[in-house]
Amino acid sequence: MKIEVLTLFPNMFDSLKESVIGKALEKEKFILNITDIREYSLDKHKKCDDYPFGGGSGMVMTPQPICDAIKAVDPNRVCKRIFLSPKGKTLSQPLVEELSKEENLLFLCGHYEGVDQRVIDSEIDMELSIGDYVLTGGELACMVTIDALARYIDGVLGSSESTNEESFSNGLLEYPQYTRPQVYNGMAVPEILLSGNHQEIDKWRYNEQLKITKERRPDLLEDK
Ligand code: ADE
Repeated sequence: MKIEVLTLFPNMFDSLKESVIGKALEKEKFILNITDIREYSLDKHKKCDDYPFGGGSGMVMTPQPICDAIKAVDPNRVCKRIFLSPKGKTLSQPLVEELSKEENLLFLCGHYEGVDQRVIDSEIDMELSIGDYVLTGGELACMVTIDALARYIDGVLGSSESTNEESFSNGLLEYPQYTRPQVYNGMAVPEILLSGNHQEIDKWRYNEQLKITKERRPDLLEDK
């Protein structure tokens, strides 16, 4: 998979060079290209924003630098083009999995009070939100999305990690995990996990999933 990101703040994406995603990028399990929108501004001061028509507070990102940057990185329109915005479709685990199947993705990160609507109308395939709250820009939302979807790309997770047994993988929250020591500060690991009886352990884990999901996210059980 190849991911193009358009942003006014390319350095923010340095944090993706760390940890699991950083290793996957080093091993070229997927390609991530970060493009600075400002480099495409034809303004002599490289300006990328202006006052909103009709008045109001804040600035709006102008169409020229964004549209030229998009044309430069995706000239043949092969990418699914996504604009990060609180007005978008809310990201969920099934949507993450769906996006991870795309060969080419382009993420446009907005800033200031927004992006000129004509960019969205003419260049964007989908608006995506990571939740009902407002961030200062699309960059963090973009990184959240890339982190979540990269986990589905072959070779990104090690063989001991997996997307099969985790929260949401069967529509339920994850069961609790324990490691050594067997007793810590007077708290013992549940006996069943030491039994070696894998059928019983699976049953216990499933029941724990049901219990915690019922307690914290009963909405997830509604269509079960
Ligand atoms: N930009 C600002 N807030 C956002 C959000 N919640 N999701 C995606 N992009 C955003």
